[in-house]
Amino acid sequence: MDAVEEIKQKTDIVEIIGQYTPLSRAGKTFRGLCPFHPEKHGSFFVYPDQQRWHCFGACAAGGDVFSFIMKKDNISFGEALKTLAEKSGVELPQNTGQEKVREKHERLYQANQMAAEYYHQLLLGSPEAQKVRDYLSKRGLNAASVENFKLGYSPNAWDNLQKHLLERGFSIEELLEAGLAIENENKKHLDRFRNRLMFPITNVRGRFIGFGGRALDDNAQPKYLNSPQTPLFDKSSNLYGLHLAKDALIREEQAVIVEGYMDAILPHQYGYKNVIASMGTAIGENHVAILKKLTKNLILALDPDSAGEAATMRSIWLENALGAEMRVALLPKDKDPDEIVIQDPSVWGQLIAAAVPALDFVFEKSLAGMDLKTARGKSEAVAKLMPSISQISDPVRQAFYLNKLAETVRQSPKKLELLLLKDRSAQKVKSISTSSHRTVSNPLEEYCLAIILQYPEQKEHSKKLLAEYFDSSENREIYNAILSTDDASQIKPSLDSALWEHYELLLNQKLLPHRLDMKLAETVLRMREEYIKRLAHNRADTLAVGESTQLRELFVQKEHLREQKRRQK
Ligand code: UTP
Ligand code: MN
Repeated sequence: MDAVEEIKQKTDIVEIIGQYTPLSRAGKTFRGLCPFHPEKHGSFFVYPDQQRWHCFGACAAGGDVFSFIMKKDNISFGEALKTLAEKSGVELPQNTGQEKVREKHERLYQANQMAAEYYHQLLLGSPEAQKVRDYLSKRGLNAASVENFKLGYSPNAWDNLQKHLLERGFSIEELLEAGLAIENENKKHLDRFRNRLMFPITNVRGRFIGFGGRALDDNAQPKYLNSPQTPLFDKSSNLYGLHLAKDALIREEQAVIVEGYMDAILPHQYGYKNVIASMGTAIGENHVAILKKLTKNLILALDPDSAGEAATMRSIWLENALGAEMRVALLPKDKDPDEIVIQDPSVWGQLIAAAVPALDFVFEKSLAGMDLKTARGKSEAVAKLMPSISQISDPVRQAFYLNKLAETVRQSPKKLELLLLKDRSAQKVKSISTSSHRTVSNPLEEYCLAIILQYPEQKEHSKKLLAEYFDSSENREIYNAILSTDDASQIKPSLDSALWEHYELLLNQKLLPHRLDMKLAETVLRMREEYIKRLAHNRADTLAVGESTQLRELFVQKEHLREQKRRQK
């Protein structure tokens, strides 16, 4: 549970608002004179079960406990957060305020950079590192690669790096947070990396954020020890070598993704500078979001087994996120990219040029071993591939693969199309389900924000969305941040850190990327509808004239949208 959520749970909204205006119980709700406008009859209601308040009088406003004190005390969300956190005894995440966060990050970058320099100098000069220098030349790496990638050596000692950095003004807390030191069971602080070949990892701007350390002895475990997740480093949103590959990615309009550190370095050494490594993890949407700003032409060059895995269902998600086709380069069995390149650099170029569309590869993999002449084989093939096809968001490509499947099983495309529609409506139900563990969650608002945050290009379909449609303050705050920037994917630093957990939830909410433009437009209409209904909710009289007209208009708009959706299918 994040701090905002916890505050909401621990705060008695009736008690807080009761301090500003006397409330009397009326059934499940509380009623009083509106503290925001002068009135004789109480048109101000508080709903403890929903943790909401509403004025049905002149101000026609409402919200949660945050928006109440923001409005009443004329303070910002951050200030309201502090006040209520104190009252409810909830501890806010430290370092609220962007400046402090930025300063801290700066320190962590510097610690990583200094560590990289330290390891690098040891690799170049220390007698102890002779074995590592020998190993590197055995693997075919030249001095320029060692220099460009700033490879290093972490000595076989308990705390050499630690001493080095502490002497230079870093605190042990900073080293722990940077992932450079660890604390053992006896509360002793040790260097995380010992006796390893070090691969510093940088972000796209070339700043040092973490390390991968390869064991020198083939039996040592783990083979690679990596930095843990830190405020700077997260495997799911960084790619090894991106800084050095960036220009080539743009110039050549192509990115080749390999798995390992070595697999990235050797192609670079032989002039293939568009190669980056996923550091052993599956390519995810965060990776795609970074890459697609540089090039949309992605080629996965993974070993045959992992390629099979990566190119299944995932590739469709990724292609939708990418907004383009992905390809797979099929590498010979039992050969890592580094070995291929060393043996004959031109073969690498040929393998990349021969990459096949990921979906063709999925087809091939899925159908392998099936007897497509039998009825059973055909229906198995359809069952296996239809879920993938139904998720392709580009209608032209979807039609292409639908036809391909139809040809494969010798059925009419029309028949398969019907199945496709069925598959889709089943998924639609799933796509609305949201993070269920939140107590005061607001699925509609969160669905809407999740779309905009995960697919910033969809923002244009939410032009009519007003901040006041958001009933929950944290959602409204996030939407305000989206409104105040051109790039919705970059709002995190501008948010109060107490909102980060909620923000991450939104970012990780699973969405089916099919026709997001329409889903978003429809969600906006529904939110507007909810908003107008809220204005009228529980009021003695029925809808005001203006409101019912608006609701009728909304109804027509929604029908119109549904009709459009039907036609698109
Ligand atoms: P590999 O085991 O294929 O290693 O893991 P490699 O890169 O080919 O290394 P060499 O050629 O044997 O020296 C591929 C990548 O997966 C991650 C690393 O990023 C590695 O480069 N990995 C692997 C880990 O993070 N931890 C491990 O224990 C193993
Ligand atoms: Mn390898």
